[in-house]
Amino acid sequence: MSTKKFARESAVIMTEMVLPNDTNTLNNLMGGKLMHWMDVVAAIAAQKHSNSIVVTASADNISFQQPIALGNVVTLKAQVTRAFNSSMEVFIEVTAEDIPANKKVMTHRAFFTFVAVNENNKPSRIPELVPETPEEIENFEGALRRRQLRLVLAKRMKPEDAVELKSIFNLD
Ligand SMILES: CC(C)(COP(=O)(O)OP(=O)(O)OC[C@H]1O[C@@H](n2cnc3c(N)ncnc32)[C@H](O)[C@@H]1OP(=O)(O)O)[C@@H](O)C(=O)NCCC(=O)NCCS
Repeated sequence: MSTKKFARESAVIMTEMVLPNDTNTLNNLMGGKLMHWMDVVAAIAAQKHSNSIVVTASADNISFQQPIALGNVVTLKAQVTRAFNSSMEVFIEVTAEDIPANKKVMTHRAFFTFVAVNENNKPSRIPELVPETPEEIENFEGALRRRQLRLVLAKRMKPEDAVELKSIFNLD
């Protein structure tokens, strides 16, 4: 297995149309349906980076500020921002488009974490990720702080060990 891969090699674009079965009683996309699509597109990006089976370890906070209407076309873009040992952070951006009205809006951005697992469902080592563009570098650099925050919240890391995270609050 190659030990390094470019961030762009994991890029995935998925397009869906909001159909009646996807909606709530207000004829807007159900939040759970959107999260399902986000999970799928992000899992594909994580698989592309790791060339492995992956499982969802966590999804960072997703807020629903803007409804997506029946008939809208939803585009989900996902790309791995950084790879650690067995886990990867994936950035997902969602846009909704009303094609007849010629209107397109960015509705959601989120980070999910996936873990590559082997045939025994045990975490397995993944290639290092190499960012190239300014946006990829910014996402790569922020990923360590976000990882520490989610591991502290999941009680998998002691707050005092979250050195990168503390640095943004100037606690030292
Ligand atoms: C995610 C999972 C594989 C972690 O297994 P584990 O035995 O706890 O393994 P470890 O403690 O060695 O952690 C493995 C990696 O997962 C990461 N991880 C574990 N929990 C995490 C969380 N809540 N958020 C982010 N990353 C997490 C660890 O940081 C570690 O990353 P690293 O290898 O890059 O350093 C395991 O908890 C699992 O299988 N969960 C169920 C996954 C699933 O079914 N998802 C679908 C949703 S129903």
